[in-house]
Amino acid sequence: MPISYITRRERFNAAHRLFREELSDEENYNIYGKCSHPNWHGHNFELFVTVKGDIDKKIGYVTNLTNISKLIRELIIDKIDHKNINLDVDFMQGKIASTENLAVAFWEVLIQPIEDLGVKLHCVKIQETENNYVEYYGE
Ligand code: NI
Repeated sequence: MPISYITRRERFNAAHRLFREELSDEENYNIYGKCSHPNWHGHNFELFVTVKGDIDKKIGYVTNLTNISKLIRELIIDKIDHKNINLDVDFMQGKIASTENLAVAFWEVLIQPIEDLGVKLHCVKIQETENNYVEYYGE
């Protein structure tokens, strides 16, 4: 049966700061650059969630993307949009608020609920700026 990969995009904006508590502001700046600014800064993020599955013969779909969208909104967007990733987001507590870590955290939040819809999570991609994005494939 043909396998297809389908992707839903959702958007959110959020603030963060990349830093390690044990380091000075200057040391953090040397590692993280502008993203370590002590008074936070924000990005308009784009999140792409790709799922994989058989094309249902009768319906012609892998799954209804509305259901994927609903899950992403309930489990992620409602918690992170217009928030501070370091301070406000439960699944990011104790983690460095990098886009890499965000992608892994999103994966962990989504994997089971997406499987419950009968499809497989394939990729979580987060576009942080026009030029930078991160992909996570669960490895
Ligand atoms: Ni940043």
